[in-house]
Amino acid sequence: MSPFLFVTDLDNTLVGDDQALATLNYKLSKHRQEYGTKLVYATGRSPELYRLLATEKSLLEPDALICSVGTEIYLNGSDTADAGWSAKIAQGGWNRDLIVATSAHFADLVAQPDSEQRPFKVSFFLTKEAAGEVIPQLESLLQNRGLDVKLIYSTGQDLDILPRHSDKGLAVQFLRQQWEVAPEKTVVCGDSGNDIALFSSGQERGVIVGNASAELLEWHYSNPSDRRYLAQAACAGGILEGLNYFGFLG
Ligand code: GLC
Ligand code: MG
Repeated sequence: MSPFLFVTDLDNTLVGDDQALATLNYKLSKHRQEYGTKLVYATGRSPELYRLLATEKSLLEPDALICSVGTEIYLNGSDTADAGWSAKIAQGGWNRDLIVATSAHFADLVAQPDSEQRPFKVSFFLTKEAAGEVIPQLESLLQNRGLDVKLIYSTGQDLDILPRHSDKGLAVQFLRQQWEVAPEKTVVCGDSGNDIALFSSGQERGVIVGNASAELLEWHYSNPSDRRYLAQAACAGGILEGLNYFGFLG
């Protein structure tokens, strides 16, 4: 057995089936102890909402925490975002105020709570019905104003606006390079739109849990890859299935 880099989304991926989570946590912490496997959480949540979940579900302490859809990285339990990553994603000339002002033209965009408005992330609720029309219009208006951003829509309800050169996948690449972990020794797991970047960024092994949302499944079927496994089981049960499929747990 050898160490690997385990990266997972939280809501409806790692978390959602308490019994399967207990089994997975046991196997992962053993693997970490015996072989030095590293654990990374890649979540859309702010650090504040992450801490609530971590306490409620007794999550294992990760080696790194990627928050706010890949726009913040916290290493080894630090509560200060990694300055190298922040500097890197700020390079495109991020203008938060102008993004907020531009978004105000769309009545369908409903601001998410303050805790989820982050230095490099502006977030709204947007219904599935309105999304098809609003997203392309918003995207072109932002572009016309010279804003170099990326729009990510998840679970048919959340719209995040981020700097162009940030997302969960790019944050994982940053960590992989720092830690010198090969992509084939890396596995990424997810269930929704903001996880597409985890699966599309490179040669990593990917696990899509059985309860994945429509936008991720649609992307999965239109971008086939034999490095990606679609599990039968939901949440942590699906992760266990995928880790066994790729032989990470032996
Ligand atoms: C989490 C965040 C939210 C974000 C969503 C999708 O729920 O709290 O702000 O929009 O993930 O990325
Ligand atoms: Mg999720």
